[in-house]
Amino acid sequence: MLGTLILLWVGFWLLLFLFRTRRPKNFPPGPWPVPIFGNLLQLNLANPIKDLGKLSERYGKVFSLYFGERPAVVLNGLQAMKEAMVIRAVDFAGRPLGMMVTHLGDGKGIVMADYSPSWKEHRRFALMTLRNFGLGKKSLEDRILEEISYVTTLLERSDGKSINPQILFHKAASNIICSILFGNRYEHDDEFLQRLLKIFREITTMVNGPWTMLYDTLPFLKYFQLPFKKTFENMEILKKIAADQIAQHKSTQVPEEPRDFIDCYLDEMEKRGEGFSLFNESQLIILCVELHIAGTDTISNTLLTAYLYLTTHPDVQARCQQEIDAVLGDRAHASFEDRHKMPYVQAMIHEVQRMANIIPLSVFHRTTKDTQLMGYNIPKGTLIIQNLTSVLYEESQWKFPHDFNPSNFLNEQGEFVKPEAFMPFSAGPRMCLGEGLARMELFLFLVTLLRRFQFVWPEDAGLPDYTPVFGVTVSPKPYSMGVRLRCLQTE
Ligand code: HEM
Repeated sequence: MLGTLILLWVGFWLLLFLFRTRRPKNFPPGPWPVPIFGNLLQLNLANPIKDLGKLSERYGKVFSLYFGERPAVVLNGLQAMKEAMVIRAVDFAGRPLGMMVTHLGDGKGIVMADYSPSWKEHRRFALMTLRNFGLGKKSLEDRILEEISYVTTLLERSDGKSINPQILFHKAASNIICSILFGNRYEHDDEFLQRLLKIFREITTMVNGPWTMLYDTLPFLKYFQLPFKKTFENMEILKKIAADQIAQHKSTQVPEEPRDFIDCYLDEMEKRGEGFSLFNESQLIILCVELHIAGTDTISNTLLTAYLYLTTHPDVQARCQQEIDAVLGDRAHASFEDRHKMPYVQAMIHEVQRMANIIPLSVFHRTTKDTQLMGYNIPKGTLIIQNLTSVLYEESQWKFPHDFNPSNFLNEQGEFVKPEAFMPFSAGPRMCLGEGLARMELFLFLVTLLRRFQFVWPEDAGLPDYTPVFGVTVSPKPYSMGVRLRCLQTE
């Protein structure tokens, strides 16, 4: 008996020794990891933001964590973020390998593709194509305004009532991407759109959940029939939808007369010729899926946050409406150009984005070579986590770091200014590719709807709860808002 106990004891310490994590020399400090799990059990996985804040207070602006055996470095505050993402840009521009999100995209496309010639060229192509007039005859702005006009009609039917805007904004954001990618928008009760959104919801729920964390920490689990298999099946469905769209486009396309993103890509493939080109249909399929995912929740959750704050800060809403009315005169809706004449509205939108903090941990990066950061050594292949929350709420950077207050973006003369710490889209070579599109969508949505409607916090709704629901993209808790038509004289 004693012999068995001694053997077990020795075995336990031997295992600990074998699986112990070796910290590289001059690596950023951090909590001590346990074998196999690393620091995973020390974090509240349902929402690690507070834990990361506390760890930063203890270990500094740059600290380390272990996800299983995988070393990670967490960046906090503007200074660390700038040094990594802007000054040492390329060193920090990789994407992690061997995680679920990487496997879902087969390493193709842009979002999860590693730093490579293929990523670079696809990113350049997508940036060019997503400019206002990059998609052929119908501009980006026209596509957005078209969707907004449907939303306006739906909201007009709710005049005097309260609605939960969640599904409405979700469908609208997804439809704008459909119009950009496929040249088509769908009625909000269309089965295809509903099916698409259901699949997105299932994928994001899984990616935000503990199974994904386990998959990323214990890679051998991918060989088992566990719940994350469903995510891979869902991804196959999305790929099939994109492949069908591409096939349809090929049979109706007129070269050099693009109707949408897919046509632009097919033209680009033709231009580059077959053979060794980095542009091919399997890349296009992943690109369609990831642009759709990247451009849906981000926009709809930002809009939800905007109306949560606008309904509960009627003074801010009224001041925006004054400015909008003065600039638009008798026009019914705005154009994106009008933003230059609307400093307060611009400040409100940026403040919403700051508070919304939609992707609080950005998308994980990976170092592409051995490098340094704030005096520490960071070996090649280290997972990099940007704690964007720490910059968007950094006390030394904002006049009112913890309150919703558009003055954070206004100078003494009431002009719009954008502090360096405004980083909801991240920074550097990996910075959000959809920033231009997102800013156009948010401006046109907010201005057009505020022009037509008054939004109110329902009397029976109790006190507003601003606590966000954590995830890869953060969202406000579900809420209702009252819709009232404004009386306006427009053309
Ligand atoms: C309010 C809206 C949005 C926010 C706050 C946002 C934020 C972000 C963030 C934080 C990243 C990670 C950057 C990094 O890794 O350093 C990102 C990446 C990306 N976003 Fe957005 N995003 C938004 C909307 C969009 C839209 C509308 C699209 C396009 C349809 C889009 C497409 C992308 C793509 C393709 C990437 C990957 C860029 C790369 O890896 O090179 N995003 N976004």
